[in-house]
Amino acid sequence: MYSSGTLRIHELTAEERAVYAALKPECLPEHVAIIMDGNGRWAGHRSLKRFLGHQQGAKSVQLVTETASRIGLPWLTLYAFSLENNLRRPRAEVNFLMRLLRTYLESNLQRMMDNNIRIRYIGRTQELPPEVQDKMAWAAEATARNTGTTLTLALNYGGRSELVDAFRGLAAEMKRKHITLDRITEEDIHRHLYTAHMPDPDLLIRTSGEMRLSNYLLWQVAYTEIFVTERLWPDFRGIHLLEAIADFQRRERRYGGLGEGSGEGSGEVDEEAERFKIAAG
Ligand code: FPP
Repeated sequence: MYSSGTLRIHELTAEERAVYAALKPECLPEHVAIIMDGNGRWAGHRSLKRFLGHQQGAKSVQLVTETASRIGLPWLTLYAFSLENNLRRPRAEVNFLMRLLRTYLESNLQRMMDNNIRIRYIGRTQELPPEVQDKMAWAAEATARNTGTTLTLALNYGGRSELVDAFRGLAAEMKRKHITLDRITEEDIHRHLYTAHMPDPDLLIRTSGEMRLSNYLLWQVAYTEIFVTERLWPDFRGIHLLEAIADFQRRERRYGGLGEGSGEGSGEVDEEAERFKIAAG
């Protein structure tokens, strides 16, 4: 299933290798998305400032991405900074996150290169401070020719605003090409999403226990398997990514169908329905 990069299983830790050994290589996800939550709580539990939680969270970003690259995961998409974070968090925290992002890109570029990682972004990144945009462009350009995992950072991202941007793009295209409304397909909307170049996530991980999507990849997660862990993001490591993948492999994905063992196609279901009709009178 994997098309990008080469496997570097020998670079996994012994613990990671043990979890990886139990995975079915033919059923690995192609795209994993993560809602990285719990930085503030991690710091709070240690009576530290929230900033230190974010700083520790940035280390998790690098370590998890490296494990993803070792197992040849083609796409990893991390929710690093939402539109709502930008609007609703104190200015000092937003400024810190912006500085942290710049430092992160600068100090991890060599590790990205060593791990054949390509870095990209989704979101209204044009609204971020110019010096942050410059650093982002620099890292994207430097890693553009890498062929391993594509790490996509969602920055100033919101799922609803992505849909607004997609509909605006599609409406402009329709006007230009004189296309009528009844010709719009799901594929047309998909083409105008920030994620048009990648498959939808197979697995969405959320750390720190909250059971919500928080406006993340709303269109794309229609059939995504969701894995929520109580672990706080600064404590999340590559081994936990592998454990989430192991859990994912135990799921049965149905995409609205009946799945295996349902009796589908054997005539059993029709007979069952017939009996139910009679009993129901
Ligand atoms: C949620 O923690 C996390 C964020 C708001 C942003 C995620 C940022 C990072 C992981 C660090 C920087 C990332 C990069 C790529 C350099 P929270 O503050 O909402 O935690 P809480 O819910 O416990 O308060």
